[in-house]
Amino acid sequence: MTSSTSLVPIKTSKDLRLLRQDWRNPVGLVPTMGALHEGHLQLIRHAAHYAEEVVVSIFVNPTQFAANEDLESYPKSLASDIEMAQLAGATQIFAPNVTDLYPNGFSTYVVPSGPLVERWEGRSRPHFFRGVCTVVCKLFQIIQPTFAIFGQKDFQQLQVVRQMVSDLDFQIEIQAFPTVREEDGLAMSSRNSYLDSEERKVAPLLYKTLQQAAAIIQNKPKQNLEVLSQTLTSQLNAAPQIKIDYLSFVDAESLQPVSQFNGNVCLMVAAFVGNTRLIDNLLIQT
Ligand code: PAF
Repeated sequence: MTSSTSLVPIKTSKDLRLLRQDWRNPVGLVPTMGALHEGHLQLIRHAAHYAEEVVVSIFVNPTQFAANEDLESYPKSLASDIEMAQLAGATQIFAPNVTDLYPNGFSTYVVPSGPLVERWEGRSRPHFFRGVCTVVCKLFQIIQPTFAIFGQKDFQQLQVVRQMVSDLDFQIEIQAFPTVREEDGLAMSSRNSYLDSEERKVAPLLYKTLQQAAAIIQNKPKQNLEVLSQTLTSQLNAAPQIKIDYLSFVDAESLQPVSQFNGNVCLMVAAFVGNTRLIDNLLIQT
C-alpha cells in the first residue's frame, strides 16, 4: 500500500536497529548507491511483492572506489530517489552518512579471495569487491533482511555476494534480477548519465555484440570461444570511442574462462565508452 506522506530516510544504523525490532518479516533489501533509475525501481517493485517491509539502502560506498575513480562525481539525487523508491513500493529508506558506516578507527574489512574475484572486475578494480563485501556485510548485519535483491548486470558482484553469504553463514536469500535495458538495449546504469550524446549513440553496441555472439553460438555451438572473443573485441575496439577492458566467455557458475560452449556460459564485457566505464553481460544457456 502506498502512503501519501513522504518517507523520512533513516540516517543512522542505530536508528535502523531500533526500528527493525518492530518490523514484520519478510524484510526485503534493495541495496543501491542512489541515482535510481528504472532498473532499481523494478527491483523495488519485485521486492514489494514478497516483503512486509522493503528497505532501499542509498549509500555511495567510498570503499569500493579507487582514488582515480568517480566517487566525488557519482550522481546524487536523494530527494527524488526517495520519492521514486516510495512510489515503487519501498517502505523504508536507509541513507546513512559515511561516518555512520565507517566511523573513525574503522579497520575491519571483508576481503573475498579465490577464483571468483581473481579476474574481470576483481583484476581491473582490485579494491572493488573488498568494498562491496564490506558494505553489503554491514547492511546485512544492520538490516537483517529476509532476502536481498541484486541486479544481474553486475554478474560477478552477484556471484561474489552469494559466495560471501554462504561462507559467512548469513541466513539471507540472495535473489538475482534480470538486467533492465533501455529501448536500444543499453543496460541501465547510473553511470550512463556520464555519456555525452555521441557516446550514448555507440554504447548500445556492447549489448548488440553480446546478442550477436549468442546468435553465433546458437548456430555453431562447437566453435572456439577464445577465438570468437578476440574477434568480437577487435570489432568493438574498431568502433569510435569504445575501448574494451575485457570481453570473455566464462562458466556462469565459476566465472572461469571457457573455450567451448558448455550450456551455461556468461559473456561478460567491460569497456570504456569515452571516459565512462560500462559493464554488461549475457547468459547463454541451453
Ligand atoms: O551494485 C551496487 O550498486 C553496489 O555495488 C552495492 C551493492 C549497493 C554496494 O555498494
